[in-house]
Amino acid sequence: MVEPVEVSVTEPVEVFLASRNAKKLEEMQRILGEALPDLRVLGLDDVVEYAEPVEDQPDFEGNALVKARAGYRATGLPTLADDSGLCVDALNGMPGVLSARWSGQPRSDDRNNTLLLDQLADVPDERRGAEFRCAVAFVHAGPDGDVVEQVVDGVMRGRVIRERRGEGGFGYDVVFVPDEQQGSLTSAEMTAVEKDAISHRGKSLRKVAPLVTAALAGPAG
Ligand code: IMP
Repeated sequence: MVEPVEVSVTEPVEVFLASRNAKKLEEMQRILGEALPDLRVLGLDDVVEYAEPVEDQPDFEGNALVKARAGYRATGLPTLADDSGLCVDALNGMPGVLSARWSGQPRSDDRNNTLLLDQLADVPDERRGAEFRCAVAFVHAGPDGDVVEQVVDGVMRGRVIRERRGEGGFGYDVVFVPDEQQGSLTSAEMTAVEKDAISHRGKSLRKVAPLVTAALAGPAG
């Protein structure tokens, strides 16, 4: 829960989230809107087209920063960008930043899950631990006109099961059972609201929200 802050803002304020994913944009609008009711979250489809950078960094934080810097340079708006993926203990943290393209091109969640289940076929239950991670970068102008860069992280710990279960979510949700819940539902069997409450992305978005409100909202009066 983000504490509402009193603001002296008279016009709607805008923040840019460098994403086309409608679910991410809605989630950010919901979380930031609790503290800044006048805030509008814009997505890639709401701003002038620009060359999006290659996500070639070795970690989530680096990729999120590359995307947020490019968005800030292109739009001049306070810019957020996220990068996320699944890190499997028995694969030494892979697929990690390669999660979306783990089984090659064209990107396919279904092939990614088949490959992951095959790779872990002989791994016993007690060594099937994994975690989703999400980094969110926020790039904006500081009080002296300097560029400020902030990065936060969120983690959802759990384990990879041996078969697909569930219809919701996306990506590896059908094979992942989060620790932070009652029972043994996969994240694809949880509602979106239940998943948001414990997910890596929900956690990092809730962490970045006060940074955005502090940057955008002047003190009341
Ligand atoms: P991106 O950060 O949206 O580019 O996501 C990278 C990839 O990580 C996705 O394509 C999925 O394969 C995986 N991933 C990230 N977050 C989740 C999640 O919440 N559930 C399932 N898969 C995810």
